[in-house]
Amino acid sequence: MGEENIYNIQWFPGHMAKTRRMITESLPDVDAVIELRDARIPLSSKNPEIERLCSSKPRIVVLNKSDLCDPDELPLWIEAEKKKGAVCIGVDSSSGKGVSTVGRSVTSACAEKIERNRQKGFSVRIRAMVVGIPNVGKSTLINRLAGSNKAKAENRPGVTRDRQWVKTDYGFDLLDMPGVLWPKFDNKICAENLALTGSVKDDILDLESLSIVLIDRLKSRYYSLLAARYKIPQQQREADAVELFELIARSRGMITRGNEIDYERASRMLIDEFRSGKIGRITLDRLKAIPHNSCVEIAE
Ligand code: G4P
Repeated sequence: MGEENIYNIQWFPGHMAKTRRMITESLPDVDAVIELRDARIPLSSKNPEIERLCSSKPRIVVLNKSDLCDPDELPLWIEAEKKKGAVCIGVDSSSGKGVSTVGRSVTSACAEKIERNRQKGFSVRIRAMVVGIPNVGKSTLINRLAGSNKAKAENRPGVTRDRQWVKTDYGFDLLDMPGVLWPKFDNKICAENLALTGSVKDDILDLESLSIVLIDRLKSRYYSLLAARYKIPQQQREADAVELFELIARSRGMITRGNEIDYERASRMLIDEFRSGKIGRITLDRLKAIPHNSCVEIAE
């Protein structure tokens, strides 16, 4: 197995400053912010500065890729966000499920402004922007919200790609360019979660170590999914992550000519199957219930 450190991931300070500037410059032009997070890692995919950066605007928190997360966990995360006063919606931008709720929520979050405009006789359209870490589904959601309007905007000849607004079918316009936020790598567990779900480019990751991390996580919380997918016998319940990895690789015939485990192929397969939901619907972050019916988010 490789010795490389999978946590050695960086988001350069220059990148962060540029993003911060881009968002701060765009904010005065929008009435609401749609903040995307990955429903499998609602905590790890949250940008550490987003609340501060966007505090002056209504914010709609979208837990995207909800088709891939644990269906029992999703309502708990949504509830936890709501308790903090946020509007929070579980969405599957791939199929479009939940997208219309996002559309309607933007309009209702800006209801006061719409009414003020109406009373003054202005017909100014509401504007919103989508922000989120890489690969969380920003472009997919923008395309869904824009629908056929997006194609029209793209076909206009001579229009620069800079800061276009597309009409949505929900009565607001959307900044065509998403704000790409930097993820938080300050915590080892968050960094692992971001790597596992594909928010970090795989070419800088050690996939073999990452797949052991994945098995370790699934072993404690989703063992039955792992056992069912890879036909792991019941008596292996106590096997450690490396032993399970080898069982999985062998059960899939990922063996080299010398009858050795093909670690590279097996790791790739495991990570791909996790990301595409083939192992099952899994949430990696955890919400821990504490007394008085409230919850805290933990990364452990
Ligand atoms: P980004 O702009 O935030 O970087 O993300 P983008 O929309 O490009 O989406 C990243 C990947 O996530 C894409 O897959 C996209 O299809 C997928 N995706 C987006 N939203 C959802 C969702 O709600 N559920 C699921 N299951 N997948 C989603 P890809 O493999 O990179 O591209 P493609 O094969 O779909 O073209």
